[in-house]
Amino acid sequence: MSHTAYRVARGIGWITLVLVATLAVAPANQVGPDRAGDARPAALERGKYLVHDVAMCVQCHSPRSANGELNEHTLLHGGRVAVTSPYPDLPWAFMAPRLAGIPGWDPDDLTTLLQTGRRRDGSSPRPPMPPFRMHEDDARAVVAYLSSLSP
Ligand code: HEC
Repeated sequence: MSHTAYRVARGIGWITLVLVATLAVAPANQVGPDRAGDARPAALERGKYLVHDVAMCVQCHSPRSANGELNEHTLLHGGRVAVTSPYPDLPWAFMAPRLAGIPGWDPDDLTTLLQTGRRRDGSSPRPPMPPFRMHEDDARAVVAYLSSLSP
């Protein structure tokens, strides 16, 4: 092998070595539920996203000002339902209970409620509480997030 070819080969060898080393190290830096230590923060973030931005629990389960506005300091503290039923003969609830800290709730029962729309005894909350059919991971993330808030 000529001297130049030898240096090129050695250069390629180094580059390969660095690439392999980078790939070997990369997964260890990933944040995600695959790594046991990171599972909880990832679930909390997902729970927060579902509660505030997707399932909109905050819209019903928070008090509103006289103008109907939400206050960021009292989100999920429970509140009056601002709308009446279009079907006066059907059941309808006018208060949505406090969810921050899920006081008085068994986390597994709440997870089941969010997956099936039913309580442990088979009954359902009245409308306008939606009968959610969440996947277990989402239901658990919502419950983890709600329990992390101060009761
Ligand atoms: C459209 C309004 C609305 C939305 C959105 C909503 N809720 Fe409710 N929720 C209610 C009302 C009203 C009640 C009271 C039902 C009753 O008293 O029968 C209730 C009841 C509950 C209860 C108590 C159930 C029981 O056994 O009495 C829990 C827990 C709950 N909601 C959790 C949630 C969570 C978590 C979310 C979001 C993922 C959510 N709710 C979204 C209106 C809503």
